[in-house]
Parts: sequence; structure tokens; C-alpha cells
Amino acid sequence: MDIIGQFPLFYFPEYGSAWMMGITGTIHILASHTSVGAAMLFAFLAYKAYKENRSDLYPYMKKYGMFLLIFSYVIGSITGPGIWYTATAASPRGISALIHNFVWVWATEWVFFVYEVIGVFALVYFIDKIDKKTHLKLTFTFALASVGTLALIIGIISFMMWPGTEGYYTTGSASDAFFGVNTFPHMFLRIGFMIMMSGVIGLVISSAMKKENEALSNELSRKMGFVSLIGGFVTMFFFMWYMGTLPDNAHAVFNVTKESIIQNRIILAIVFSLYFILAIVRPKTINTVLASSMIVVILLAGLWPGEKLRESMRKPYVAGQYIYSNQIVSRDVPGKGIKSELPIIAEKGLLKVNPFVPENLKVITAENKLEAGKLLARMSCSNCHSLETTGKFRPLKDRLTGMDKEGIKSILYAIGSGSIPYMPKLELPEHEYDAMAEYLASQKY
Ligand code: HEC
Repeated sequence: MDIIGQFPLFYFPEYGSAWMMGITGTIHILASHTSVGAAMLFAFLAYKAYKENRSDLYPYMKKYGMFLLIFSYVIGSITGPGIWYTATAASPRGISALIHNFVWVWATEWVFFVYEVIGVFALVYFIDKIDKKTHLKLTFTFALASVGTLALIIGIISFMMWPGTEGYYTTGSASDAFFGVNTFPHMFLRIGFMIMMSGVIGLVISSAMKKENEALSNELSRKMGFVSLIGGFVTMFFFMWYMGTLPDNAHAVFNVTKESIIQNRIILAIVFSLYFILAIVRPKTINTVLASSMIVVILLAGLWPGEKLRESMRKPYVAGQYIYSNQIVSRDVPGKGIKSELPIIAEKGLLKVNPFVPENLKVITAENKLEAGKLLARMSCSNCHSLETTGKFRPLKDRLTGMDKEGIKSILYAIGSGSIPYMPKLELPEHEYDAMAEYLASQKY
């Protein structure tokens, strides 16, 4: 039968399903990165407390641990499955590709995660109940499990950008999929960010301890300033390396908005460096309001644009450079027995081969042309562009303003032939181009 493996289209008006992914992802990243960063910080503090006999550090770790339990673990555990739900709706074939390549990696990650969750409870609960050496060992295993979850997930997320090795397509092996050229720069970039985040959260806790013990609060704020500054530098260093390991299509998208992104990153780097230096030089001036506000700044000015950028740079693909964002398989992957769906779409048309297209739209007629064109636009463009005239997500209205049907058609041909690197190649039969162009032109953009 001439059908391709599709799922029902999850259409999210105005904002687009990609933003839903982005919002869930950004909140999850804040929580998950904080918890892995804190695990490393705990290992450092517990070691210091044990070696230098600084039992005054334990109450700080306990407070920090409570914060983690309530904040990172609750939010992280809700948004983690949340990403699964959102991604399954928004990009079912993307998720399917990841599962087919990495099911055992994910299972292993889950084991580490379970250890991590039990570990954080044990760590906080037993902090003043077991001997210090056992507590130190517990802290070290907690840090290892946390970093383990990161290392495993990063290989998977890096594959979404690019398998990184051409060999993967013929072998289809999980290790070729996992160890791409950008896996390690990506991993260290995240580790740097996690270290920085552990300090940023640490400043909230240390500044809240002023009343109990001002000298200790200042000492810890200063330490957290150092930790954050080092984490920030590691992040910047590996960010540059990471950018150098990205595929060409990523650079094509990056170049579109390069100036504003670089400007935004420089401003952020300056603001945060000043904040961290302030914590080191004048720890007294850091209070809980300032420290908490800085987390919000990171979330809104750092993570949200950062995640949007990473999502954008993956375009036109959603995973492995063989599945497009619009859920169409774009190349053969012999190692996995996967065949490109582009030829059959070019021959039969998208409406015919997608089993979820209603029967009355399978054949374009004068009566259903606009409706068929609308469905075609939803299937081919809505994953990356809002179609509504009031849409917010990379809206087509700003990109097709004032164009007539013929103008729009010439853009569709260009997209179809693959001559615009960040948009999926989608060759359609002439009558489908025509219906889509007619619908888009009727939208008064
Ligand atoms: C995989 C994601 C993706 C899909 C699917 C997609 N686009 Fe795009 N499109 C982009 C990106 C990324 C840009 C460039 C950045 C920007 O304009 O914000 C872009 C830009 C454009 C532009 C501006 C001109 C240009 O060359 O930059 C037009 C017009 C456009 N898209 C139309 C469409 C139409 C029509 C469809 C459906 C047939 C479509 N796009 C499908 C990602 C996509």
C-alpha cells in the first residue's frame, strides 16, 4: 500500500507545538541542571567538610538539599515525563527514532536516575545521623549517578542534532549514534553550566543564612561566587568548541540571527560576571531577593533563548538528520532498514500517502481546494511556522507579506527542491503546490 508511517497531526494554533516543547524543556533544564550541578557541589563540600573537619558546612548542605528536594526534584520529575508527553504529541516520529536507537541507553539512564532520587533523600536525611565518612561515600556515589544521567542523555540529545559519524547510517549501531563529534563538547558545555547553576542556587541559600551566622554566610557566598565564575568560563569555552562541531544546516540557521544572539550572550556574560565578582568581593551585598532574581534572569534571558536556538539550529531535522521536523523521513538509513519517503510523496502526493488525511481531502477538487491547501500547509509548515495571521511562532505572515499566489508558489518550489537549507525538502505534485499556494495567498498576510 502506498502509505507512509505517520501519526495524527498535533496542531497547536498561534504558538506552535515547538514552543510547547521549548517551555517544558526550559523549565526541565533549569531543574535538572541544578540538581546535577548540586550533586557535584555536594561532593566538593562534603569532601571539604570531612578533610578539614568543618562540621559547620553540614547545615548548609542540609538546607541546600531540602531546596533541591522541593524545587529541582519535584519540578524536574514532573517536567521530565512532561517532555515525553509533549514530544510524543509534537513529534511522534522524532521520539520513535530516539527509542529505536537508544532504548537501552534510556533504560540505563533510568537506573541512574532512580539511584539519584533515592540518593538525595538519603543524603539529606542521614546528614547528621551517620558517620561522616559514610556520608562522604554516599555523596560521591550520588554525584557519580547524577553525572551518569547527564552523560547518557547528552549522547541522545546530541544525536538529535547530528549523528556526527557518517558510519551510523550504514551500521545503525547505538554507539555510532551516541558518540558523534559534538557529544563531548555538548557534555562539557552542560557540565560548565551545571557548575555555574549550583553556585547561583548556592548564593540563594548562603544569603538566606545571614541571620544565623553572618561570617559563614559571607564565606559561602564568596565560595559560590568562585564556583559560578569557574562554571561560567567552562560554559563559554565549550560553547565555542560546540559551535564548531555543528552541521552546516545549523550554521545556516544560526547566521540568520547571529548578531542578536551574540549580543545577548555578551550582555549576559558581563552581567553575570559582575554578579559573581560582587559575590566574591562584597559577599555582604548579596541578599536573597537579588540571588533569586538572578535565577529568573537565567531562565528568561539565558535558557529560553538558548533552547530556542538549539531547537532552531536542528532545522530542518528533528532527529539524526533523517527525520524532518514535519515528520517525514528524508533519507535512507540502511543500517536501520529505513527508506526515504520523499520519492513516494513526490510521485503520489502528501494527501494520498498520509493515512490520517480524511477521505474527502484525498483528491483535490474545485470545492475542497482551499481546505486541502490548508491541511497541506499544516502538515508541511506548522511545525516551524504559525499559520494564523496573529501567530507568534516564526509566523508565516511576516515571511509571505504582500505576496500573491505565484510568488508564494515560487517559494514553495524552492523549499520543495531543498535549496533553502533550513527548511525540509518537500517535492509535491503540481496540484498540491497549487492548492497550498492558493490557501496561503488567501490568508491576506
Ligand atoms: C523545519 C522547520 C521549517 C519548516 C517545516 C518550514 N520552515 Fe520556513 N523557515 C524555517 C526557518 C528556520 C526559517 C528561517 C528563519 C526565519 O525566517 O525565522 C524559515 C524561513 C521561511 C521564509 C522566509 C524566507 C527565507 O528564505 O528565510 C519563508 C517564506 C518560509 N520559511 C516559508 C515556509 C513555508 C511556506 C513552509 C511550508 C511549506 C515552511 N516555511 C516550512 C523553518 C521551517
